[in-house]
Amino acid sequence: MLFLRRAATATLFLYGLAPSVYASVVAKRATCTPASAGNSGVDDVPAIEAAFKSCGNGGIIVIPAGKTYAIRSTVDFTGCVNCEFQVEGTLKMSEDLNFWNGQRATFLISGITGLKMTSVTGGGLIDGNGVPYWIKFAADSSYARPTLVYITGSKSVTISNLRFKNPANVFHSVTGGSTNIVYSNLRLDATATDTATPKNTDGFDIGSSTYVTVRDTTIKNQANFFYLTLIRFDAHTLLQDDCVVLKPGSNYAYATNITCSGSHGLSVGSLGKGQGSQDTVTNGWFGPATMIDSAKAVGIKLYEGGSTHGVATVSNVTWSDIKVQNCDYAAQIQSCYGAADTSNCIASTHSITGVKFINFSGTTSSKYNPTVANLNCPKSGTCDLTMTNFNVNAYSGTRKILCSNVDSALGVTCNGAASG
Ligand SMILES: *[C@@H]1O[C@H](CO)[C@@H](O)[C@H](O)[C@H]1NC(C)=O
Ligand SMILES: *[C@@H]1O[C@H](CO)[C@@H](O)[C@H](O)[C@H]1NC(C)=O
Ligand SMILES: *[C@@H]1O[C@H](CO)[C@@H](O)[C@H](O)[C@H]1NC(C)=O
Repeated sequence: MLFLRRAATATLFLYGLAPSVYASVVAKRATCTPASAGNSGVDDVPAIEAAFKSCGNGGIIVIPAGKTYAIRSTVDFTGCVNCEFQVEGTLKMSEDLNFWNGQRATFLISGITGLKMTSVTGGGLIDGNGVPYWIKFAADSSYARPTLVYITGSKSVTISNLRFKNPANVFHSVTGGSTNIVYSNLRLDATATDTATPKNTDGFDIGSSTYVTVRDTTIKNQANFFYLTLIRFDAHTLLQDDCVVLKPGSNYAYATNITCSGSHGLSVGSLGKGQGSQDTVTNGWFGPATMIDSAKAVGIKLYEGGSTHGVATVSNVTWSDIKVQNCDYAAQIQSCYGAADTSNCIASTHSITGVKFINFSGTTSSKYNPTVANLNCPKSGTCDLTMTNFNVNAYSGTRKILCSNVDSALGVTCNGAASG
């Protein structure tokens, strides 16, 4: 009895106190819930943008659970300053091939300071409705598909606890000198149908930026294996595209605790494409990561040299704690990308310094068996590359590591000349 009374008092005390504490903390944040027409033919974007304008300054914009909002035009986050975009329902891009052709993004985060895009329940879904766009692009490669979420010139943006599926093109892109961008606890999946396989559905393209983090995230690109087997396509090459890729201007990018299936891997590149270009990727970190069914688990892609291309610099990039499952290569460096004849390309003066492959394990696929790594460094450039605890086995037999033009002590025995 005494115990019960005490418990009741304690409960009353808590309940009595809680609302005022709650109110004093939360009341400052305005909340807007944009209305959805509930009709895939009616654009819900004007209502969402109006919510950013009225509640965006420090407030919360809520997409409630159980509702699907029709995204028939680009969602522009203008008006958001330290705002929260809480997605519990579904945001679905429309099937409108005419409208979306040439649009840069479905969700455009441009010049924003302070955005938290999240799902509290974990049920929020951003659906890129990609199938009609993959089919269109396969028939007409000039068709320009939007990136699903494009961040440019922004800072302090976090995107967390959400699911993204079937983008028309790349899932996430960050560039324009953005800084302090964190992607965490995301699930990305692009799934084939009987008639369409995802194309260029990179997980994360990290361009000109500092301090971009991708963590605790899974990325799946799935092909239609039945169809692929029938027409004898090379499944791993077709599965598109990079899982996380550092592009020109990326500095201090971290990708950690990533699981990736069916991709072109955790990559740097392509760099050095444009005439006179001076692309740089510096201070990157990848790992731990599990890489499954990828064309390569990790790698660097550089254009061949010559007057029509530029000079690339890759400096201080580490891949550490990488588990390889059925990937064609565990590691690959290409220095002849874009060449008509990759076995005899124009020598480049690209610089690779402080690149480390540390603590790799697992087994490669049968494709290049028994070669597990093909490291073709720039012929007239610099290549300071080290491999430590590189314990990847071949599909069968004694593994081979091919390498060319490495200037440093590689740390493993090189078993022949590299290519590509
Ligand atoms: C790694 O990420 C997964 C989600 O993909 C998460 O469940 C797990 O807790 C993370 N592990 C660590 C050590 O943070
Ligand atoms: C190398 O890059 C890593 C990962 O971004 C970073 O933590 C480290 O400080 C960099 N080292 C130097 C010497 O800048
Ligand atoms: C590599 O693995 C060893 C144990 O196998 C561990 O001691 C070391 O810290 C790891 N290095 C990195 C950079 O993860």
